[in-house]
Amino acid sequence: MTVHTYLEEEIFYPAAREAAPEEKDRVLERVEEHHGMVWQLSELQGLDPADKTFDAKATVLIENVRHHVEKEEDEWFPGGPQGDGPQVPAGARAGNARPPRGRA
Ligand SMILES: [Fe+2]
Repeated sequence: MTVHTYLEEEIFYPAAREAAPEEKDRVLERVEEHHGMVWQLSELQGLDPADKTFDAKATVLIENVRHHVEKEEDEWFPGGPQGDGPQVPAGARAGNARPPRGRA
């Protein structure tokens, strides 16, 4: 999740915003989803699986990840059901990107 978030926020979404400035609201929504999921994941990592809230938190995280993936596939990848996402330039590829130390 952290690598996904890092690559998209450092490479993909800046390129998408440059290629299609009119998509800034959708980009901001996806970035906010990242923040929520990373926060939820950090809570789970420090929580005992026997805790009464663990299953509920895990279920909501899974639902949020599925929603996020569906939106990104629909909006940004060619052939998605909505098919109206902008084409992101080749420079947005993650080829040489490396997350900073401590992020995995
Ligand atoms: Fe994402």
